[in-house]
Amino acid sequence: MIGEEMSFKAKELVRLSTTKPALPLSSHMHLFLLCVLFLPAFFLTVSEAFCNPQDRESLMWFSGNVSSSVTPLNWNSSVDCCSWEGITCDDSSESHVTAISLPFRGLSGNLHSSVQNLHRLSRLDLSNNCLSGPLPPGLFSALDQLMVLNLSFNSFNGDLPLEQAFDDGSNRFFPIHTIDLSSNLLQGEILSNSTVIQGAINLISFNVSNNSFTGSIPSFMCTSSTQLNKLDFSYNDFAGIIPQELGRCWRLSVLRAGFNNLSGEIPKKIYSLSELEQLFLPGDIPMDIGNLSSLRSLQLHINNSTGSVPISLANCNNLVKLNLRVNRLGGTLSEFDFSQLQRLSALDLGNNSFIGDLPDKVFSCKSLTAIRFAGNKLTGQISPQVRELESLSYLSFSDNNLTNITGALSILQSCRKLSTLIMAKNFYDETVSSNEDFLAPDAFPNLQIFAIGGSRLKGEIPAWLMKMKSLEALDLSLNDKV
Ligand SMILES: *[C@@H]1O[C@H](CO)[C@@H](O)[C@H](O)[C@H]1NC(C)=O
Ligand SMILES: *[C@@H]1O[C@H](CO)[C@@H](O)[C@H](O)[C@H]1NC(C)=O
Ligand SMILES: *[C@@H]1O[C@H](CO)[C@@H](O)[C@H](O)[C@H]1NC(C)=O
Repeated sequence: MIGEEMSFKAKELVRLSTTKPALPLSSHMHLFLLCVLFLPAFFLTVSEAFCNPQDRESLMWFSGNVSSSVTPLNWNSSVDCCSWEGITCDDSSESHVTAISLPFRGLSGNLHSSVQNLHRLSRLDLSNNCLSGPLPPGLFSALDQLMVLNLSFNSFNGDLPLEQAFDDGSNRFFPIHTIDLSSNLLQGEILSNSTVIQGAINLISFNVSNNSFTGSIPSFMCTSSTQLNKLDFSYNDFAGIIPQELGRCWRLSVLRAGFNNLSGEIPKKIYSLSELEQLFLPGDIPMDIGNLSSLRSLQLHINNSTGSVPISLANCNNLVKLNLRVNRLGGTLSEFDFSQLQRLSALDLGNNSFIGDLPDKVFSCKSLTAIRFAGNKLTGQISPQVRELESLSYLSFSDNNLTNITGALSILQSCRKLSTLIMAKNFYDETVSSNEDFLAPDAFPNLQIFAIGGSRLKGEIPAWLMKMKSLEALDLSLNDKV
């Protein structure tokens, strides 16, 4: 009986030593004692599987330099460090630490340089904590087995510790494929002669968005790492032109570099990127943008771009999101063939200088959920076709010169999903009926935000407003009496 139980426990222990689940201390200790008392020979082989003492020491330094606002890291030195929270080890007899994964753990403090001694580390994920201070010098070159580094959403500051390449021109190989340093306080230039970047030929994703990096966009990566799929440089202080070399990253699906101090045109080479799905860049919209037919998201907002919406953009029939807000684009929109953009869900052409009638063709894009034309010089009336947009929930065309508020309201009242309607600063000096029967009993069933201010409308505060059962915010300001 006892023998049977023992062999069962021994099997458990073998399983433990290979997969190392995080067991509560008590049951782990229970098994441990069992071994010590009854299976001394077996214990010897098990003890060899305990975590590497040097690695444990490095981890102790790490934990000694951080604290948690949630619960302290329960890294008890009398327990195998391979079973500590967030730690994974390899299967070798020395049980080296291969991964530290502690995202969203409320950690503050610094990243101690001892992590550099974890030579077998292949994954380091400390994202979404409150860690601060500089990254240890030499971090990247010391961790030359690292494949995934995610330090995003912390407060790390200072320069990136990317050593310069050896003078002798010899190249080291770095297996890293994912680097996410986004949303920190990092700064300085990302130098082209960094040994790490040159040797990271497997790099697939590189995100340094939302920091304070300066200098030029590090496009040389596209020379060393031809598999690059995602590049995000947005929201930094990068300056200079958008480099042609980016066109060499022929597997690129996401390229984001907006909100920097970049200038110049979008380089022609970018059009050869046939797999590009997301483009977020400064610069004028190129006439042949339609060559990027895989594009799902085009964001060129707040770019000081001039010209018109290129006719060829209609070929980008995979577009889901088109954002050209806050530029100096002009011309008439009624010439543009929106009808090809059947996947378009969000369209923002606000704050430009578009003229002519509100384009009816836009209402043939059946997937639209949000449309913004606000802050242009558009004329004409709302077309009854808008009712065909069954998913439309946001519509803003304020600050234009549209006419016929009576027509607009009687049409829009049957857009059942509409939750935001901003039509202020239009319909100047028109009179709107105040009669309750002006709207149908089930008018605007989901409208929460409604703005018709600034239009010098005449008449009484309309009784039909009472019919908007879901209304939460109403702007009637700066009208005559209304
Ligand atoms: C880069 O990280 C930011 C968060 O810091 C995220 O919003 C963005 O989508 C990421 N970029 C890519 C290309 O995944
Ligand atoms: C926009 O471009 C014009 C001329 O091209 C320039 O004068 C102006 O300073 C630019 N504005 C910004 C905010 O860059
Ligand atoms: C206002 O719009 C309605 C609905 O489209 C239309 O029937 C009416 O003729 C329009 N009025 C004017 C003056 O254009």
